[in-house]
Order: sequence, then structure tokens, then C-alpha cells
Amino acid sequence: MLSAPTRVVVTGAAGFIGSHLCERLLSAGHEVVGIDSFSDYYERARKEQNLAGARAHQNFTLEEADLVDGDLKRILHGATVVFHLAGQPGVRPSWGGHFDRYVHDNIVSTQRLLESLRDTPVERLVFASSSSVYGDAEMFPTKETALPRPVSPYGMTKLAAEHLTFVYMRNFGIPATSLRYFTVYGPRQRPDMAFWRFMEALVEEQEIEVFGDGEQTREFTYVSDAVDGTVKAASADVVGQIINLGGGSRVSVNRVLDTLEDISRIKVRRRHLPAAPGDPRHTGASINLAREKLGWEPRVSLREGLAKQWEWFLAMSPKSPKVSRT
Ligand code: UGA
Repeated sequence: MLSAPTRVVVTGAAGFIGSHLCERLLSAGHEVVGIDSFSDYYERARKEQNLAGARAHQNFTLEEADLVDGDLKRILHGATVVFHLAGQPGVRPSWGGHFDRYVHDNIVSTQRLLESLRDTPVERLVFASSSSVYGDAEMFPTKETALPRPVSPYGMTKLAAEHLTFVYMRNFGIPATSLRYFTVYGPRQRPDMAFWRFMEALVEEQEIEVFGDGEQTREFTYVSDAVDGTVKAASADVVGQIINLGGGSRVSVNRVLDTLEDISRIKVRRRHLPAAPGDPRHTGASINLAREKLGWEPRVSLREGLAKQWEWFLAMSPKSPKVSRT
């Protein structure tokens, strides 16, 4: 399906993963329609920067719209594949009054998109789900068949959206696939995420805030690997399936900081804060299904990916590090 150039839609096109995905699709010759609402979770200027590469391409069009009330039928017209990456991300801020935003951007938005797809037949809908749906899993590496039990309101909304996608598939034949991304990192990472915050603290000569004892582990996934898997999911024989995309190993936050100290050659000073409500203690992906069904393999090691993110961070940061070297 994606072997020949075609018209595709990417929701959340100005975001971290979405903007990389747009560029990958454009360089493969596709016509890409990006949708983004530029919600105020973080500054618009960063999202505009993310989009610069895609905007420079003649086959790219951007539609600034909210999926809940945008004219989706017009935007989706002629599309063969929809990559649905738009959503309200972030595990830790999903409590209190912020929850409304998570419901609007993750559940209601997905439902509106699915409603539009009832009248606009596409060959594939690829939904960006999250490792957060697992919560504190009973087994590692965690298989897609594990019972999802989110421990954050955010994870609950992603699970609801995943279920909605399959509800519409079952009733209206929308050919959907759900990908569970595991803590993606790399250039353009969102400023609320761990590696971005760690790098900012280093450059600003501040202590790094570690939630809990730092022995929590994550399956960190480099952004180009996540994009590879996402593109493959548009054409592989995976309709109706849920597939984990994980970087290939579980690493503790403490080990990430040791590696970052080594790469940056800046002494890391840590300040431990209480563990954050909503954070699972560990995540770890079984990626056998992705290997088997998508022919996918993560290629970028944590050290290599962290070095690339550090290089990007320094290039875009107004401050260069001038602190005591180790
Ligand atoms: C990330 C994304 O933010 C979610 O949108 C995504 O859905 C999720 O991955 C997922 O895979 O499901 P998270 O794993 O919390 O969520 O990613 P980071 O913000 O990179 O945090 C990683 C770890 O670092 C967490 O254990 C967190 O507690 C810790 N952390 C984070 C700190 O110790 N200090 C910080 O300042 C930030």
C-alpha cells in the first residue's frame, strides 16, 4: 500500500513524533496532510520549529484544526492512510482539572475522527497508543496480551481511545492498528519529558530532579525507530492488532543519568523528589510481535540516541554549557 506514493493524513503533525513521521513520509514521496490544533501544552514556537522541515516540502499541507470540531471530511478526502498521533500527552499532569483536556484530546477527538472515517473509506488507520495503558504490569517484557490496567488518568484515556478505535472497526469496518509506543526520546522531545528536563537542568547548571529513587525503569525508544515501526504498520498485515514498539531494553533513570554525564562530560547533581503519582514503576516491551508482523527491529541504542538528543539540545538551546566538567 505504501510502496507507491499516496495521500496520507497525520494528526498531531506538529508534535514530537508526528513531525518526524511527516518528514519520513514526504521523503518517501507521499503527499502529506498534517493536522494540528497547536494546543497550549507547550509553546507554539517549538511546534513551528518541529514543522520547519515538513513545511519546506511542496507535498506538505498543514490544516490547523481541532479534531473535535474541524471539517474532517474535507481534510480526509482522498486519503488512503491516517496516522492518528494527535492527543494530550504526559502521564504526571493528568490529574485534577487537567483531566478534561485529556478526555477532550484523547477520547472525544478520537471518536470524532472515527465518525468521519465512517464516510471516508481509508485503507488503514494507525493509532498511536501508549505503554501507559499497561500500568504496573505483572510480567516483563510485557506482551500485548497482558491485561491493561493503567495507573494514570492519561493511560486510562489512551486505553479508552484504543478501545474506541476497535469499536469502530468492529461496527463500521475501519481497518485499524494500534501501536503502543514506549517512552520515545530523541531530537524534538517534548519539554515536559525526562531527557529534555535533564538536559535543560545540565545546561542551566541546576540540580536534576529525579522522581523517587531513580531505580524505576523504562523501555526508552529512539524516535526514528518509533517512526520506522509506524510506517511499517500502515501496510503490514496487522489490521485489528495491537503492537508494542519498544527500544529493546529496560534502563533505570539512574543509569540514564550516568550515561548522560558521560556523554555531556558535565557533572550531574541530583535532587530526589517523591515518586510521582501516575508513574508506573517499570515498563518493558515484548517486541516479538513487531518483529514478526512488521519485520521491525529497533536500531538505535540508548547511548547513541541520548548523544543525538544532547547534540540537538545544545544546537537549539540559547545557553551552551559552561559548567564544571567532570
Ligand atoms: C512518556 C510520555 O511522556 C507519554 O506521553 C507516553 O505515553 C509514555 O512515555 C509511554 O510510553 O506510555 P514517561 O515514561 O513518564 O512518559 O516518560 P518520561 O517523561 O521520559 O519519564 C521517564 C522517567 O523519568 C519516569 O520514571 C519519570 O518519573 C522520570 N522523570 C521524569 C524524572 O525522574 N524526573 C523528571 O524531571 C522527569
